[in-house]
Amino acid sequence: MLDSIHPAEAPAWALLRKHAGDMKQISLPELFENNPGRFDSFHVRFDDIVYDYSKHLITGRTKDLLVSLCSQCRLKHSIEEMFSGSLINETEGRAVLHTALRNRSGEPVYTEGSDVMPQIQDVLAQMERFSTAVISGEKRGYTGLPFTDVVNIGIGGSDLGPAMAVQALTPFHVPDITVHFVSNVDGAHITDTLRNLKPETTLFLVASKTFTTIETMTNARHGRQWTAEALGEDSVSCHFAAISTNTEAVKAFGIDPDNMFRFWDWVGGRYSLWSAIGLSIAIAAGFPVFSRLLDGAYAMDRHFRDTAFDRNIPVLMALMGLWYNNFLGAESAAVLPYAQHLERFPAFLQQLDMESNGKSVDRSGTRVNYQTGPIIWGAPGTNGQHAFFQLLHQGTKLIPCDFLVPARSLYHQPEHHTQLAANCFAQSEALMKGRSADEVKAELAAQNMEQSRADMLVPYKVFDGNRPSATILFRELSPETLGSLIAMYEHKVFVQGALLNIFSFDQWGVELGKSLAKAISAELTGTSGSQPRDGSTAGLMRVWKEMQNT
Ligand code: F6P
Repeated sequence: MLDSIHPAEAPAWALLRKHAGDMKQISLPELFENNPGRFDSFHVRFDDIVYDYSKHLITGRTKDLLVSLCSQCRLKHSIEEMFSGSLINETEGRAVLHTALRNRSGEPVYTEGSDVMPQIQDVLAQMERFSTAVISGEKRGYTGLPFTDVVNIGIGGSDLGPAMAVQALTPFHVPDITVHFVSNVDGAHITDTLRNLKPETTLFLVASKTFTTIETMTNARHGRQWTAEALGEDSVSCHFAAISTNTEAVKAFGIDPDNMFRFWDWVGGRYSLWSAIGLSIAIAAGFPVFSRLLDGAYAMDRHFRDTAFDRNIPVLMALMGLWYNNFLGAESAAVLPYAQHLERFPAFLQQLDMESNGKSVDRSGTRVNYQTGPIIWGAPGTNGQHAFFQLLHQGTKLIPCDFLVPARSLYHQPEHHTQLAANCFAQSEALMKGRSADEVKAELAAQNMEQSRADMLVPYKVFDGNRPSATILFRELSPETLGSLIAMYEHKVFVQGALLNIFSFDQWGVELGKSLAKAISAELTGTSGSQPRDGSTAGLMRVWKEMQNT
């Protein structure tokens, strides 16, 4: 284990603080004017992905200082610890080996003295057999009909990753099978999902690392009852598969052990789509496509592990985020995919980033005195332009943005796609350049607007500019590129956690609400007496009960 390194005590930190003051005197348009080759200096190309960070509020010195922070915080060592199976998830006493799930090197990966690769290969082979049999119709429901619908029941990492990837891979979907996702404990979710499905042709995948999560187990029982009522109790083993680390709980639920897919405690929930949790992806698009997703992630792993930090995309992304969050006062970061198929990407990244780095205690158990993870939010372009971009352009907040855009559409619709890309490039340009009062005046004069009205309008039509963004341009949303993009953000989050000296792979912050909900639920149903509570919660529970009965 590494000694805990306090980033704010690293020499680069103080220099970055001073440098941030100097940077307030410089604007992005000036940086571009002074260096027409800025794009060349501040972009990295890896395979089919270009990371352009030239529209970030940085200079060569900013980058040098940030890169030196990496060596002062021993980032290289942290990266090697993760890849080599050290127990870096210290508070849970676990290794962090989602990278082994997509390790295509043929090399072993050890943790606690044993090679994890043989068991990974076994489960991958099981996933291949199962998904192929479901798609071909060889594996059928209890009455002998092939499956037409697959319902993945899971939440958090057991839902967001697969749901995002299944949507992203829509052009690769197999015919005749539709994959659905149910996560919310609100009964509306499963009820609405099952409304048009038939028990005879519906296969449930219960995805839960622990197999104890209240939402998932409630929905799984609902699905089980729906199946058993229509087809009889004996049908359940045919219509359910489980993906879990908890074999005993899966057996107790009545799922056929042949339909159980294992994974391991060294796979974090939000990093689990590469494991059997990705079975829904393999069924939706076929196992070869799932394999290509793993290939893309592996390629990014190699880039991350082997590339110098000043050309390493996940490291640079992490450094940009840390710079805004800790030195320029940004509270949030927007992710703006100009790709409808990446609609769920921001939601996936919210869990990945905020559950990993939304912490305020460092690795020595001390409260931090610097900023940790940012607020992540976003929506696809161009929809976002007609919703919240007003604030990005003219609001009072500094919000660095990631624009993601494919060069080619898989649907070969040039008219749509050119407009999509043009909008993406236009937005980052507008954010960076802005529009001055003189430019506004000239524009209004050209419209022959009455002078007094033009004078009144000028301040509203000015754009300050100087608003930073990065653009991630990729050839097309192939399975490989999707895998690379996901792994790229995973490693960005890892680097930020490592530099910020926090434990990124636990999630104690979700525990308190869960246990209070259990107790409150018991009180609401009358299975336990009322406990002393604050006035607000007690009042709400009282009125809730009244409203239930009137
Ligand atoms: O929200 C907390 C959490 O533990 C996530 O980390 C996890 O992805 C999710 O719940 C689901 O957990 P499980 O897969 O065990 O049902």
